[in-house]
Order: sequence, then structure tokens, then C-alpha cells
Amino acid sequence: MSIVIRDGLVVTATGATPTDVLVSGERVAALASPDSGLADRWATGADQVIDATGRYVIPGGVDVHTHLEMPFGGTFSSDTFETGTIAAAWGGTTTIIDFAVQPKGSSLLSALDKWHEKADGQAAVDYGFHLILSDVNDATLKEMDACVDAGVNSFKMFMAYPGVFYATDGDILRAMSRARDIGAMVMMHAENGIAIDQLVTEALAEGRTDPVHHGVTRPTELEAEATHRAIALAKVTGSPLYIVHLSASEALSAVTAARDAGQNVFAETCPQYLFLSLDDLDRPDFEGAKYVASPPLRPRSHQAELWRGLRTNDLSVVSTDHCPFCFKEQKELGRGDFSKIPNGMPGVEHRMDLLHQGVVRGEISLPRWVEITSTTPARMFGLYPRKGTIGPGSDADIVIYDPQAVQTLSVQTHHMNVDYSAYEGLQVLGRVETVVSRGEVVLDRGSFLGRTGHGRFLAREPCQYLH
Ligand code: URP
Ligand code: ZN
Ligand code: ZN
Ligand code: ZN
Repeated sequence: MSIVIRDGLVVTATGATPTDVLVSGERVAALASPDSGLADRWATGADQVIDATGRYVIPGGVDVHTHLEMPFGGTFSSDTFETGTIAAAWGGTTTIIDFAVQPKGSSLLSALDKWHEKADGQAAVDYGFHLILSDVNDATLKEMDACVDAGVNSFKMFMAYPGVFYATDGDILRAMSRARDIGAMVMMHAENGIAIDQLVTEALAEGRTDPVHHGVTRPTELEAEATHRAIALAKVTGSPLYIVHLSASEALSAVTAARDAGQNVFAETCPQYLFLSLDDLDRPDFEGAKYVASPPLRPRSHQAELWRGLRTNDLSVVSTDHCPFCFKEQKELGRGDFSKIPNGMPGVEHRMDLLHQGVVRGEISLPRWVEITSTTPARMFGLYPRKGTIGPGSDADIVIYDPQAVQTLSVQTHHMNVDYSAYEGLQVLGRVETVVSRGEVVLDRGSFLGRTGHGRFLAREPCQYLH
């Protein structure tokens, strides 16, 4: 199969230039200036010619933080690898990295096996795995090496959720040292879970049981403190550190200071922290439960600082932390006790569109949009230049994006397997028109043409750190 994509504006992390693209098989074969006349020659022998006039031609999105079919909060996140990756494709994301969970008392490799069972043959776009390290001991530390050999070189640890995934500072120190020695990276959920649990106990004892108290009992100071502590532990061990789902300006200050001092510290934020706020958690009639995730949504005043971080590269990546739970049956578990509301929000389908609003509003440039949603995540997690750019030899993961289309986000039209939209009624400018995944058109003008089983497991190379 060969495809010619012509007369579009190719946007990569380094710029935006009118360029024609030749796809041959699974890869990008060549790029040419529209003036060169090469596209006419390519078109004569091509299986398909796509006219991208007036469109952006961007590398497929890379979402490095999803939770599909994850056991959590007494239930399972509601998207499977099938439904979650189809929704990703609808939103212009052609690669996800999902978190395989090591339950306490089990091995890391068995966790990877389990995730392969869930994903292999089921995914519509390519996927890789990180590991959630919930049980640090001699055996699991030793096993980290085998995980790297199996293409999984990033390990998430939790300073939150005591009794579930929580790791002590000692555990973290040991895992970071090991990660440093084997070229792996620790990803940190930085919230002080011990202090939070105390605040939760007090709130419930005082009868403060509504969803908004999920936010109130997880103050920004406890995210900032944990972020600072994680940075200190990384410094002591000399290991790189990636802070996941950063939500608060005080936590960002800690990251900025570490980066300015030259430390290999990186952070991502998520669309929900850029577009939603504590006010959503405070919606009446238990509707706030739809917005329960950790860290919690923050007062709107934090958003300007997060956009600042995205511009200055103190925030390097935007991923979704897609972890959907249905409002009717799953969020319901916490009616009358906010601490029992399953933590997580849906979003894998909307990341590219929401961040495009940052371009529309002048918060970020067009190349920066591509860089934070595709190029840098691919680089940081060992997928570049196969993913994250459009260049000769790269996988032909290409999105044709109509920047002028207007759409309204809604549960009525989204493809995620969840019964609400966190962005219900939000009008956005821009829409994914066509999606090519490894040389196959999987979506075109409102029709899904892909198939489960097309998506392949990506064994990842060692991470590339970028300051
Ligand atoms: O609330 C969240 N973020 N749920 C998913 C698990 C995690 O901590 O990332
Ligand atoms: Zn987390
Ligand atoms: Zn800086
Ligand atoms: Zn997460």
C-alpha cells in the first residue's frame, strides 16, 4: 500500500511547512516540497491520494499515561484495550503506553504477562507498557532488568494511596538506585498519602462526605511536598525522575527549580488540570463524582502557571491519565463517602483537540502542540523517531487535522466506554479528519476503518532525556 498526502501543512516539533508526504507500507518513505512536482509522480503509482489542503498533517499523538481495564477502587476502569484504543484513534492518538499493575506479592513479569493477555490482539493502535511497582523487594528489584529486556523501562511508584500502591521513601530510594543502574526511569505519583489519609479520616468523621471533599483533603501543599521529596530522592540516587499528572503550581515550582539546577527531572500535566477545576468537583447531586481523580482538580488560578510550564518546557508532556469509571454504576460506590469514589477520569479521546485550544488561544505554538503531545513523549519513553515525528523511516502514524472544524464534546458522540463526558457541551475548534496508523487508514471523515488486532506491542528502547 502507498498513500500520498498532499498540499497539507506538515507540523512537527521543529516547525510547520507545506509538505507532501509519501507513505509506503508501514513507513514514511519521503517528504517533498509542493513546488518540487514530486507528489504528481508519486500519485500516479499510489493506492490512495489524500488532499490535505487547508489541513495540518501531524504525527499521531502519543499518550503515555492510560489505565485500561485496570483493577482500582474495588472495580475496573471501564475501557478495554479494544474500546480505549479505538477512542484514542478517534482523537488522533496512535500510540498509548498503559500501566501494567503489579499486585502486592506477585512478580513484575507476571504483571506484564497479564497485560499482554489483555492487550495483545485487542488494540486498534500501537501500545507499550509501563509497570506499576507496588511491591519493592529483592526479587522485584532484580526483576526490573528482565522488564527492560522485555521492552518496559519505566516504573511508576506512588507516594499516595497507603495500603494500595503506596511506597515508602526507602522503597523509592531502592527502586531509583536500581533504575539508575539499568537505564530505566521512575515515574512518580507525588502526593503525601499518609497526611491525606489523616485529612480524609477527619473529613468523614465530621460528616463531610461529598465529592468536593476529595479535593479539599488533598491540598496543593501535599502535592508540592511530595514532588519536592521525590526530587530530593532522585538527586540523592542520581536517577532521572518523571512526575506524572502534575496539577498544582506549587508542585510545578519544585520541578522548575530542579530543572533550573540541571537535574534530570521531568513532568507531565493532563488536560483536566488545564480545562477543569475544583468547581467541577463541587457540582451538586453527586455529579462532582465524575471529576474525582488524584491529584484532584485545582482552583482555576493554577491553570495559567501550567500553561506557562508548557511554554517554557518545565512541563514536557501532556498525557491523559485516562482512567474511566461509569457514573451510574462505578462512581456510585462512593455516594455518602467520597473516599470510596473510584479515582480517575476519561479523556484519551480529547487530548489532541483540547491542547489544540491552547494553540487557538495563543498559549502555545503549533509546533509546541505537536512536541508536548507526540514528539517529547515518544522521545522520553524510547519510541523516537519511530513515533513522534513525520520523517523518512518513521512509522506512518499520521493525523490529518482540520483546524477550522467546530465540534462539541459530548457523551452522545464520544467513543470511550463510559457514560459521561467530563467536557459535556464544550465547543472546541479543530477536529481529527483522517488517521493513518502504520500505513493503514484507520479513520476517515467520521468513519472508523481500523480493526482490533492492528495495534502492536512496542518494545521500547532506553529513554532519552531532554532538558
Ligand atoms: O485518579 C487517578 N489518577 N487514577 C488513576 C491512577 C493514578 O493514580 O494515576
Ligand atoms: Zn497516579
Ligand atoms: Zn527552566
Ligand atoms: Zn494514572
